[in-house]
Amino acid sequence: MNGLLRPNKIAVVGASATPGKIGYTVVKNLLEGGYQGKIYPVNPSATEILGLKVYPSIRDIPEDIDAAIITIPAKAVLPTVDELGAKGAKGMIVITSGFSEVGLKELERELVEKANSYGIRVLGPNIVGVLSNSDKMNGSFAPFLPLEGKASLVSQSGALLIAIDAASYIRRVGFDKLISIGNMSDVDFADLITWLNEDPNTSCISLYIEGFRDGRRFIEAARNANKPIIALKAGVSAHGAAAAASHTGSLAGAAKVYGAAFQQAGVVQATDLNDLFNRTLSLSLQPPMKGDNLLVITNGGGVGVLATDAAEKSGVPLKFAPADVQAELKKHMPEFGSAKNPVDLTGMAGTEWYQASIRFAFAHPWVDGLVVLYCETAMTDPLEIAKGIKKAIVDSGVTDKPVTVSFVGGERSEEAMRWLVENGIPAYGAPDLAVNAIAALREYARMKEIVREEAMPC
Ligand code: ACO
Repeated sequence: MNGLLRPNKIAVVGASATPGKIGYTVVKNLLEGGYQGKIYPVNPSATEILGLKVYPSIRDIPEDIDAAIITIPAKAVLPTVDELGAKGAKGMIVITSGFSEVGLKELERELVEKANSYGIRVLGPNIVGVLSNSDKMNGSFAPFLPLEGKASLVSQSGALLIAIDAASYIRRVGFDKLISIGNMSDVDFADLITWLNEDPNTSCISLYIEGFRDGRRFIEAARNANKPIIALKAGVSAHGAAAAASHTGSLAGAAKVYGAAFQQAGVVQATDLNDLFNRTLSLSLQPPMKGDNLLVITNGGGVGVLATDAAEKSGVPLKFAPADVQAELKKHMPEFGSAKNPVDLTGMAGTEWYQASIRFAFAHPWVDGLVVLYCETAMTDPLEIAKGIKKAIVDSGVTDKPVTVSFVGGERSEEAMRWLVENGIPAYGAPDLAVNAIAALREYARMKEIVREEAMPC
């Protein structure tokens, strides 16, 4: 799997000198991404592509290779395997479409069988490729490497992966790796969960799933993982399942069946694409929430009420803070503020009140997780508030509890939230999103407790 996903020497079989072709784009992307390994373009007629020497066949490559990115038509793929085997390749990243998804199951099976007989693992076919920030490897035809971050995404849909790649920048959700899995002829979700669980640059595994080949392997791999996994399952409606079958040839299925499998596997679910982004952000940046006590600190009553509703809906209903917590928090708000939970510092709150209450509350043993809300006022500078929040969290000395933030306001608030995310604190434009994001960390911790309990000998 390392040869496949972290190759030092890559052949691009079907590399092309014609701009606009996939075989050209892959070579260009490897170069522009800053890939440090060796690239061997293979093409029977070209001599040079983007300054790189081209080899007429795989046989002509002067040394062994780790992996090959395949960008030649489907009928030509199988004959390349013997040559790749002879070059000691460990992986084939098969971008080519036109296998099981169009009914050519036998061709796909033969490809995998032959590749595996040489010890070669097959990613795809019918994929966009592999992108890795930490390896500066854009081995794909997606336009560029994603925003740098700690999550890694595995997607059964190539187009969606490309969309997520571009959207990572405007949504401020960073990824280390984006891996397109397509038809999953050989390498499947279970393989990638197991591999990414060992990857030092991945803190959270994010999945777009249309269907499994082997549900039991998935559950086992996910249960054994010690990083949060979040899944967006598509194709849960009858019509959606049929669409998934013709897209990647996978059997989709009832939402309930998948829901039960995710529960058993300790996998957090996303309800839609927005939710996948939002929850991936919190799961990749913050630790699990180990208990049910969520505290909300705000400068606005309205957003506090919205957060309270969202907390109940998300399975982390707010409770009144204990008397000692309330008594201390009361010191950092005017008479007409509320220390109950949500803690309303009122519109008069400046950086100092935020800092003092966060520093105290985050370190208090009753508090398991914290959501900080801020409505942009004329007397405060959002960036200064953001920096104050971060400083208070650091000053509290607590590193094993999660915090999420929501700033509601204009461009200055957006800028402040960008700063927060860059500094490891998930920030969202609405209070319910910040609550839902921290609820994902609670769900994860709860499910892992269940998994641990079940695994205990009687
Ligand atoms: N070894 C080396 N080079 C070869 C070989 C071979 N055995 N056979 C052909 N080539 C060369 C060709 O000569 C050509 O080079 P040229 O540009 O210099 O002429 C190059 O490889 C590509 O071959 P073409 O026949 O021109 O194929 P084309 O580029 O049109 O299509 C492709 C190949 C892209 C793999 C196509 O078959 C395909 O599958 N496209 C869909 C890919 C896709 O979308 N995958 C992701 C799905 S997910 C999503 O929806 C985004």
